[in-house]
Amino acid sequence: MDELDQHFTVHKLWEAVDRAGLLASLRERCVAIAGSSVCDAALMDALPETRVIAHCGVGYDGVDVAAATARGIRVSNTPDVLSDDVADFAVALMLATLRRIPQGDRYVREGRWEREGPMAFGERMWGRKLGLLGMGRIGVEIARRCEAFKMKIAYFSRSTKPVTYRYYASLQGLAREVDILVAIVPGGSETRHLIDRAVLDALGPEGVLINVSRGSVVDEEALIAALREGRLGAAGLDVYADEPRVPQALKEMTDKVVLQPHQASATHETRFAMGRLVLENLLAGVEGRPLVTPVN
Ligand code: NAP
Ligand code: 8YV
Repeated sequence: MDELDQHFTVHKLWEAVDRAGLLASLRERCVAIAGSSVCDAALMDALPETRVIAHCGVGYDGVDVAAATARGIRVSNTPDVLSDDVADFAVALMLATLRRIPQGDRYVREGRWEREGPMAFGERMWGRKLGLLGMGRIGVEIARRCEAFKMKIAYFSRSTKPVTYRYYASLQGLAREVDILVAIVPGGSETRHLIDRAVLDALGPEGVLINVSRGSVVDEEALIAALREGRLGAAGLDVYADEPRVPQALKEMTDKVVLQPHQASATHETRFAMGRLVLENLLAGVEGRPLVTPVN
């Protein structure tokens, strides 16, 4: 933010009490938009001098890229710099869910270890079968890490990738074969509810779902029902359909579900690198140079 201030006059839309008034005052002056939330056609029309939208995140499902392109606005995102941290976090969430690490932490703090003795066992992670929905920049990093856990790795995506892991042309087919399914695909209409009741049932009562992609990828109602009815074993979730709101039913499932507040890329180092990319893209955009990490 300090560096942004050195190059631009920054207006913080999220802090505005009178959003419409601020937008109106910027109508003739705003040349660039930076952020990580929704950027739709209405915002672009309210700020018609905009030349670049620098999205702070690799997933840009909140940005209406078609609307931007139609208006001659260039869009950038922040790929690669976050892949390792997101992959670390996916593995951490897998371990936390299978080995019940938050449950153990609560068990100690609540004095239950002293009162009730050893807590219930968890499930093994090493050597198990892992399915990845998505084998892109982050998916590959998750798979590499899971090789060290001696896991058997397979994946589903629309096309095969240059990796040695087994490819499944059907997500349901993959879910039927694996113990743990990790979602790491982009959000948006094409992936909406890819993980539905049929996929969850294929994963089965011993199966574990980990979602570090977007909440929209999973049919949340179907997930809650599957967990409630014992048709799915457990879930580790970093993302939700309507963030920051999380269904009460998921919050109440303290035994089977590990929840995180969309934290997978949230280290100081990675957020700094993402911020730097945003700044570099903004400067390139307003100076008419090619964007560093263009989307359109
Ligand atoms: P990427 O390199 O573009 O990889 C995306 C993968 O998803 C590819 O394997 C792609 O293969 C597959 N895919 C895309 N559309 C699909 C579809 N309709 N059906 C099946 N597979 C599909 O992206 P990335 O850098 O790995 O990032 C992936 C996503 O992770 C981001 O878009 C974002 O939503 C999410 N993310 C979340 C966090 C977090 O904080 N939780 C942090 C970073 C990223 P095909 O094109 O061949 O299908
Ligand atoms: C961020 C993300 O939490 O890159 C993404 O797609 O979901 C995360 O890295 C988000 O973009 C907020 O900055």
